[in-house]
Amino acid sequence: MQSIETFQTRRLIAERLSAKHLSDFCRMHEDPKVMATLTTHGGIISNEETRQMLQNNLGHWERYGFGLWVFRDKHKDQFVGRSGLRNTYVSGNKEVELAYALMSEFWGKGLATEMGEAVLKLGFEQLGLKNVVCFTLTTNLASQRVIEKLGFQYEREIIHVGLPYVFYRMKASQFTPKD
Ligand SMILES: CC(C)(COP(=O)(O)OP(=O)(O)OC[C@H]1O[C@@H](n2cnc3c(N)ncnc32)[C@H](O)[C@@H]1OP(=O)(O)O)[C@@H](O)C(=O)NCCC(=O)NCCS
Repeated sequence: MQSIETFQTRRLIAERLSAKHLSDFCRMHEDPKVMATLTTHGGIISNEETRQMLQNNLGHWERYGFGLWVFRDKHKDQFVGRSGLRNTYVSGNKEVELAYALMSEFWGKGLATEMGEAVLKLGFEQLGLKNVVCFTLTTNLASQRVIEKLGFQYEREIIHVGLPYVFYRMKASQFTPKD
C-alpha cells in the first residue's frame, strides 16, 4: 500500500507538499512554457502569487487530508513536477480533480502519465474516491493525450473561469491499476 506522505513510481519519488517546496514552485512558475496552459492569462506568475498558491494548497491538505505531491527524479534528485488531487467546483458541481504539471525539461518522457497513474491509484484505493475528473484547455493537446492514456472517459466541453476546456471523468470501477 502506498503511504500518503511519500511514495514511489518507477522513476520518481513523491512527497507530500510542504513549505520547503516554495523555491521549486517558483522556478516552475517562472517558465512561460509551463505557465502558458496553467494560468487564465497564459503567463508566468510572481513569487508572491506562488507563495499564496502554495499556502492554499497546504490549506487543502490540512482540510481534506490530501492534495498535491511533489515528484523528484529517483536518481538525480531533481524536481520534476507536481501532481495531486484537489476539491473543486465545475459547472456548480463539487468534483475531485487530478492535476499535474512538469518542468519543461522533463516533458515527453511519459512522466505525467506515470505521476497520474500513481495519484489515481492512491485516490481510488486509499482515499476511497468514487470519481475523479480531469479537464484541460481545448488547445492543450499533450494534456488531453495524458488524460486519454490514463483511461479517463470524455464527457463534454465546458467553459471554466471563462475559458474552453475538455472535461473527462473516471469512476472508481473504471480504474485499472498498471501494477
Ligand atoms: C501536459 C504535460 C503535463 C504533459 O507532460 P508529459 O510528461 O510530457 O506527458 P507524457 O509524456 O506522459 O505524455 C504526453 C503525450 O502527449 C503527446 N503530445 C505531446 N505534445 C503533443 C501535441 N502538441 N499534440 C498531440 N499530442 C502531443 C505525446 O506524444 C505523449 O503521447 P504518447 O505517449 O502517445 O506519445 C506537460 O506538458 C506540462 O506540464 N505542461 C504544462 C502544465 C500543464 O499544461 N498541465 C496540465 C494542465 S490540465
